[in-house]
Amino acid sequence: MDFKRKKLSIVTLGCQMNRHDSEWIAGLLADEYDVTGDEAEADLLVVNTCAVRDKAEQKFFSLMGRLRPLKAGKRDMVIGVAGCVAQEQGEQIIKRQPLVDIVFGTKAVEKLPSLLKKFEETGRPQVDVSAESDYDEYPMKRESAVSAWVSIMRGCGNHCSYCIVPSTRGAEQSRPMESILAEIRDLAEKGYKEITLLGQNVNSYGAGLSQKATFPELLRKADAIMAGHGGGWLRFVTSHPKDLSDDLIAAMAELESVCPALHLPIQSGSDRILAAMRRGYTAERYFERVENLRRKIPDLALTSDVIVGFPGETQEDFEATLKAVEQAEYDNIFLFKYSPREGTDATKLPGRVDANTARERFDAVMDIQRDITRRRYESWTGKEITALTDGPSKRDPLRYSARTPQNITVNFGADMDFTGSFIRARIIKAKRYSLDGSINGQLSQRQAR
Ligand code: 5AD
Ligand code: SF4
Repeated sequence: MDFKRKKLSIVTLGCQMNRHDSEWIAGLLADEYDVTGDEAEADLLVVNTCAVRDKAEQKFFSLMGRLRPLKAGKRDMVIGVAGCVAQEQGEQIIKRQPLVDIVFGTKAVEKLPSLLKKFEETGRPQVDVSAESDYDEYPMKRESAVSAWVSIMRGCGNHCSYCIVPSTRGAEQSRPMESILAEIRDLAEKGYKEITLLGQNVNSYGAGLSQKATFPELLRKADAIMAGHGGGWLRFVTSHPKDLSDDLIAAMAELESVCPALHLPIQSGSDRILAAMRRGYTAERYFERVENLRRKIPDLALTSDVIVGFPGETQEDFEATLKAVEQAEYDNIFLFKYSPREGTDATKLPGRVDANTARERFDAVMDIQRDITRRRYESWTGKEITALTDGPSKRDPLRYSARTPQNITVNFGADMDFTGSFIRARIIKAKRYSLDGSINGQLSQRQAR
């Protein structure tokens, strides 16, 4: 009998939710499979796909092209497709990509072990994109021993007119609070120093739960657990501006473990476009929230998502976006050109913006944000900061890579391993995407904020 353990390789495209789900997939299969970074030696290769923009979807198709010779050379390699493209296209994927053996959607992740078994027994491709489940335990196999994702809800209850996520990830469904807190407790006991709570719109956490709960309540309880385990940091993504309550701002300001970093996607600075996007707020309301945040949390790092070239976006609308990006003084933004997604309402809107104009607008926003980011990063030079060390830096093993409470990367040289430690460092230099620091010492968790 062959007791050799099998090898699993996962290629993760897309957002943090996919990264979370990839660790979940590895956890579900941990009894039989070890994870390998080398696709060629995999017995099972899972591609965890993203459909949010056309570019992301194209990545999946070009990856499939790359896998074809791999599979041809190793006929017993099983190929699975997960994530949003799987959910969206289901059976179609098998038809178009005969090398794929298993397609499992965003709501069928926990079915992977049984789908795999069925495939092994029958040799027939397996597809599961249908099931709505209330599964809320996540046997994760985590990549990091320092930072962990914890899913607090699935799906999205909004219907932004450009977005495919509500159809690929389904209706919003909050995970019961006790189950979340149990996972956080377990992580804190295992020595994790940073926990990021994940949901498409964490601010509406609790809606629909049989036991009433709100996101600030969850944060307060999570904070108490971290405090009881010697400290550590809490983060969360993503926040929808329309649901950002005063209570959440108060919780962020008052809770020791909650980092002063908020991703608050504005998408556009024009009220006309915001309405067409169905975002549920105006620019004025957005900035009222931002002012409140900045008043209560002065060291806050604010980041955002911005879309240019949305259907009907005039020069005037675009200028409102430019103005908003200047006014908000984001630490950084994720900037996108509008990408029509089949089945979404925005595809029916008139006034398509031509590709050249979209590119010019993209570049103009990028230029402005680059300057703001540079200014904000430079303002850290000379200051002493606290940071949590992720590990040796990718480029230089004699340097370590850490992140500040604001989630800014700081690299520093050290002759001992600081992985997983909170350190103090003085910032020497600001670079484009990170800071350079010189280490001044190590901190106990308790002192970390
Ligand atoms: N086109 C361009 N950007 C999009 N996003 C979501 N859907 C689209 C689309 N169709 C962006 C939004 C969102 C982020 C995750 O991706 O800015 O906040
Ligand atoms: Fe998409 Fe809007 Fe939901 Fe975000 S909040 S996932 S942009 S529908």
